[in-house]
Amino acid sequence: MLTVENLTAGYTPGINILNGVNLFVGRAEIVSLLGPNGCGKSTLLKCIAGYLLPRQGLINLEGDDVGHTPVYLKVRQCALGFVPQTDNVFGAMSVQENLLIGGHFLRPKACQARMEQLCDLYPILARKMHAAAAALSGGERQILALARALMSGPRTLLLDEPSAGLSPKMLEIVFDAIQQIRKHEEVAILMVEQNAVEALDISDRAYVLSLGQIALSGNARALLQDERMQELYLGARAG
Ligand SMILES: Nc1ncnc2c1ncn2[C@@H]1O[C@H](COP(=O)(O)OP(=O)(O)O)[C@@H](O)[C@H]1O
Ligand SMILES: [Mg+2]
Repeated sequence: MLTVENLTAGYTPGINILNGVNLFVGRAEIVSLLGPNGCGKSTLLKCIAGYLLPRQGLINLEGDDVGHTPVYLKVRQCALGFVPQTDNVFGAMSVQENLLIGGHFLRPKACQARMEQLCDLYPILARKMHAAAAALSGGERQILALARALMSGPRTLLLDEPSAGLSPKMLEIVFDAIQQIRKHEEVAILMVEQNAVEALDISDRAYVLSLGQIALSGNARALLQDERMQELYLGARAG
């Protein structure tokens, strides 16, 4: 469960990329975060994950104020999982080694059990257990990145463009994998996506970020029909 209130953050002193963002993701919800390139979607996820400290505002995970909890404590103490936009697996390591890294602070037996559980959920991982992650297809690699983040049993999961660069067929496979998480694990999922229509299709709700603020939010089905959504998108893209 994630609550973000009035969040302001940025990189360069005096320039805010996020400017008073409010957002909520409940248990077992899939919520999409949409918006044009460069509007601050990854910045928001990095801020929630603790790579970037907020300048103002609140970040609350499962009832705890974690805005200033450093990134290396977020997985263990705050039950957060994060799949970044790029470099989200260790290419030279095997599937198994990547999963073991995801569960590195579990006891060996629990780690093994969790790995088996995730291999049941995603059979492709069992079939490729000893292959190098770099040898997987794009879709398989995203599933490995998901599973790596799930090893520690997160209550909240942040996904940054899980379908980037995938074919439509692969996108479907990865989105199926994301829906499996909701079904089996009751995790709160916040997913940044460029493929807005497909993302809304598997989401409960969505937020559209524009100029560092939430410009539009609501039920995913309602947003699919919303003309303002298309204007925001097409307007921003044409510019
Ligand atoms: N590490 C960084 N240092 C300085 N500026 C950055 C950094 N990362 C991103 N930015 C800037 O922040 C803005 C938002 O970027 P980002 O959050 O990656 O957008 P999105 O994920 O929506 O495409 C962009 O203008 C980008 O150039
Ligand atoms: Mg991004």
